Amino acid sequence: MQRVTISQALTFACRDIGRVDACMLLQHVLDAAQAHLLTHPDQILSAQQLEAFQCLIKRRIDGVPVAYLTGERAFYDLTLIVNEAVLIPRPETELLVDLALQLIPLDRSFRVLDLGTGSGAIAITIAKHRPQSQVTAVDVSPAAMAVCRQNAQNLQIDNLSLVMGSWFDELSGERFDLIVSNPPYVAGNDPHLQQGDLRFEPQVALSAGDDGLFCINHIIHNAPDHLTENGWLLLEHGYDQASACRQLLQDRDFSNICSHPDLAGIMRVSGGQLKFVK
Ligand SMILES: C[S@@+](CC[C@H](N)C(=O)[O-])C[C@H]1O[C@@H](n2cnc3c(N)ncnc32)[C@H](O)[C@@H]1O
Repeated sequence: MQRVTISQALTFACRDIGRVDACMLLQHVLDAAQAHLLTHPDQILSAQQLEAFQCLIKRRIDGVPVAYLTGERAFYDLTLIVNEAVLIPRPETELLVDLALQLIPLDRSFRVLDLGTGSGAIAITIAKHRPQSQVTAVDVSPAAMAVCRQNAQNLQIDNLSLVMGSWFDELSGERFDLIVSNPPYVAGNDPHLQQGDLRFEPQVALSAGDDGLFCINHIIHNAPDHLTENGWLLLEHGYDQASACRQLLQDRDFSNICSHPDLAGIMRVSGGQLKFVK
């Protein structure tokens, strides 16, 4: 039988998939922390562990995102389960969460709506950090809803309601103090959809009409019917969509319209406040 140590397995894998991915996959196979890989370089992998690791390396070489291979992704201060039914939560989306948390009081009830919740990254993080708030999470995909439900259960979130349906369709008559969304915003003909991780992520989570603004437009247009007086709408969008979003918000009479840059300096989240209920 082949005797392969942690150090040898990593050296072998690094050539094909790089050290970061190799470490994450081996940690997953061994169910161990990264420190374990560093402190136990001479540990021999069992035949099963070696086979599982080789299988993951092959799928990674084929392009499958690491998060789908390990079944989890860190977001904010949480670890979320993910699978092929949901978008892999992105670091940029933490900006949207930061901005939302600034608007939500810690000490009183506040109604929050997350449209297109996917894994529940935004809704669950808000619910966790603002336990007095009542968060509603909507998604059109039953498989995504199942992932969100599992994450909420794993993280013992009890101030979250899940609603399956398209955008506001199942929320007739309901109003919220804050609506947040990271909707699909990639143009249907964008070549990036055929590249990298995006090839493996659900199309329903990514593409939105010819210019990528279809869902954003729908949400901004309908949000006033579902916001309380002085309620806020915050949307994540593409790197070149900030000015179009601000225009759409203006067209619907939002006030305090503003765009916010992510860590790379790209305007990534835009929003506004509804001063008077429509
Ligand atoms: C870009 S993903 C965002 C997922 C998650 N909120 C995040 O930030 O990681 C967009 C989500 O919108 C959902 N979606 C697409 N069309 C929808 C619709 N008509 N109504 C509700 N959700 C929709 C997709 O299923 C997907 O989960």
